[in-house]
Amino acid sequence: GHVYVSRRLSAAPMTALESLGVPIVVHPDPDWPPSRGELLDAVRGASALVTLLTERVDTELLKATGNALQIVANCAVGYDNVDVNAASSRGVVVTNTPGVLDEATADCAFGLILAMARRLVEADRFMRTGKEWIWAPQSFVGIDVSAGATLGIVGLGRIGMAVARRAHAFNMRILATGSRADNREAAAFGVQAVEIGTLLRESDIVSLHCPLTSDTRHLIGAPELDIMKASSILVNTARGPIVDEEALVEALESRIIAGAALDVYEQEPRPHPRLVKLENVVLLPHIASAGEATRNAMCQLAVDNVRAVLNGERPPTPVAG
Ligand code: GLV
Ligand code: GLV
Repeated sequence: GHVYVSRRLSAAPMTALESLGVPIVVHPDPDWPPSRGELLDAVRGASALVTLLTERVDTELLKATGNALQIVANCAVGYDNVDVNAASSRGVVVTNTPGVLDEATADCAFGLILAMARRLVEADRFMRTGKEWIWAPQSFVGIDVSAGATLGIVGLGRIGMAVARRAHAFNMRILATGSRADNREAAAFGVQAVEIGTLLRESDIVSLHCPLTSDTRHLIGAPELDIMKASSILVNTARGPIVDEEALVEALESRIIAGAALDVYEQEPRPHPRLVKLENVVLLPHIASAGEATRNAMCQLAVDNVRAVLNGERPPTPVAG
């Protein structure tokens, strides 16, 4: 069967894919995903799928391939869009792209931390109004990141560790949850492993870096926002549904917390309609991994996974489970 690719990859990985010597079918629109109907049609008879987080890979889709399918290579580190159990039970390998996007994602998360803490985007918006201004002691005063602000990293894994490394260089106090929060690398960056309640209560900035699973869906809802400091900000570069977005909007409107910087949304691609009306938010269109070399490396890793499985070898990065 063919390799179906749900969006054109960057040039080098595309060339690598074409050199595998199997037929390649690429969704023709480079900017927009296939509709569900197009997807179900295009995968018929495929041996491999290269998917993005915009494609839901479930039993229906797996069935639509027929029975030649060997691998779903998701071009993302997150794979909540893939029903891994359904794939496994059909003998289909699922792979993701861990590791290659840690630095790019941490750069973006840290950019959001600084932008939000120091109100950079809000200040930029003000400058564009053309209103008269003069330097003033109290204008656009925000959180002093390097003067000992506390950063809470929820789900300290590869990306969280890259954020911790940056935070350490900024002299932040760092709290974290997750299985790696008390390992030696974390200790070297001054990370203190804590329970989530302590993290939420004590942090000036809470940054989410856990995967979306049934355990982390709505991990941050009204009760969690309630115990955060009124001066604190929430940063999400992980997955939208980790946060109850309706509860977040209410918390922001009523100043339960001071602000939020989001790269991801609960109902992607649509942010909550009241979110875009708020001043105390920074909103990005899911771009945390969007560095040029990073995106190439993600695509290349997906292609390497496809090549290995089609050659009967163990893929470099199968998902756990
Ligand atoms: C992007 O969101 C990814 O999971 O790689
Ligand atoms: C600010 O511009 C200062 O000089 O303190």
